[in-house]
Amino acid sequence: MPYIGGKSQAGVYQRIINLLPPHRVYLEPFLGGGAILRLKRPAEVSIGVDRAAPDPALLQLCTFHQGCGIAFLEKYKWTGDELVYCDPPYLLGTRGGRRYYEFEMPDADHRWLLKVILRIPAPVMISGYPSAMYDQALAGWNRDEFTNYTRARTARQEVLWFNYQRPLKLHDDRYTGMDYRERWRIEKRRRRWRARLQRLEPLERVTLYQALVDVMDQPSPSLRMTGNPAGGIATKGAAISAVRRS
Ligand SMILES: C[S@@+](CC[C@H](N)C(=O)[O-])C[C@H]1O[C@@H](n2cnc3c(N)ncnc32)[C@H](O)[C@@H]1O
Repeated sequence: MPYIGGKSQAGVYQRIINLLPPHRVYLEPFLGGGAILRLKRPAEVSIGVDRAAPDPALLQLCTFHQGCGIAFLEKYKWTGDELVYCDPPYLLGTRGGRRYYEFEMPDADHRWLLKVILRIPAPVMISGYPSAMYDQALAGWNRDEFTNYTRARTARQEVLWFNYQRPLKLHDDRYTGMDYRERWRIEKRRRRWRARLQRLEPLERVTLYQALVDVMDQPSPSLRMTGNPAGGIATKGAAISAVRRS
């Protein structure tokens, strides 16, 4: 049974994972059914928090803390190699007041959460329905909007706000592509190119690698970043230089 508001629907989890830069520590302070934690490549350390008791299967995948995710983030000792993905119960005002969870979140807690994430010295992403409160608080963050379908097949706009540049290097690149067709095309091409490169003489392979590095040094307009990363965070792996190192 899918978790209400969970992110395991096809097209949704890929979209989120395609925006996650490399990280050593993964933190999900509103874990619920933990779709992203389950579906992305594991981090060295994964930490989940929820006020509700977890699905026992999630305990195999992360260290779990039962309690308030906002208080947890407030006290956490940051080292900078974390990535935080927040999927709180959406603002009641953006879903006609419908209550889904044993633990819902009052607007005051959303304001508290926004204040706390603005101070986090590491990459942070947060999901929600379009909201003026979020847009105002997170002005200057990057913003991605997409259509999602509720269980009743009603189309809803969802927003991802993130405080780092759109990554060119991903923590998990298995889902690259905007939709199923594109993912399939890219995966086919990746396999073909890998097979071809494996057949090449090492020197020719290195020459082609250098050509790739050169191209990455001169991003085309379509690769330029949109929005401003908040707080000047230098996200590991988000910049082109990370591609050069790899
Ligand atoms: C939208 S759901 C998360 C769904 C999850 N992303 C998934 O894919 O299954 C929100 C979760 O936040 C939890 N929650 C509500 N208030 C909380 C708080 N203050 N701290 C931590 N968790 C909270 C709820 O119990 C619920 O499991």
